[in-house]
Amino acid sequence: MSYNVSKVNKGEEVQFKQPDPAFYKALGGEEGMKELMYDFYDIIYESDIAHFFPQDEDEFQEVKEKNTKFFIQICGGPKVYEKEAKGMNLNEYMIRLHDDFSITEKSRYEWLGCMEEALRKVNIDQKLKDDFWDYLEKFSKLTVNSFADGSTYYAAYTQASEK
Ligand code: HEM
Repeated sequence: MSYNVSKVNKGEEVQFKQPDPAFYKALGGEEGMKELMYDFYDIIYESDIAHFFPQDEDEFQEVKEKNTKFFIQICGGPKVYEKEAKGMNLNEYMIRLHDDFSITEKSRYEWLGCMEEALRKVNIDQKLKDDFWDYLEKFSKLTVNSFADGSTYYAAYTQASEK
């Protein structure tokens, strides 16, 4: 079923696969990805996780742009985010970037919910959206670092295995 979300188990290995470049192509490349990601961030700003993100308009704009570049690259488009990762593996960089924020399972659900809302508006083959969702659903587990029992746990990149 589309848009399923499974639970995070602290410390478990997370296997994920990079999104199929066919998703990026079906979106229409860079412009289509930009539309999707800008819409996603507009939804985030109306959500329960809005407080995680900059309230300053220029800073917000910068996050939108960087986020779009990351997704263009991770989805098989041009390497427009390369410089940001400072030579680190892109996935590892992304996990570490989120260490600065206390992300709970609940925030992850909300984040995924915003993405679901944005994706539902995109009119492309559901199979391609499902493939992208599969990556997001799994990879997002590695951004969760704060748990209901009050403990924290920062996922090691070695815990992520790319299929
Ligand atoms: C598949 C999972 C996720 C991916 C691929 C992802 C990707 C990104 C990217 C590309 C950026 C911008 C990086 C930059 O500034 O260069 C970002 C920033 C951020 N993400 Fe995520 N994210 C994910 C999950 C989450 C979740 C679950 C949360 C929960 C709240 C979250 C919260 C944030 C925050 C707070 C920022 C930084 C905003 C700032 O710079 O002030 N992310 N994320």
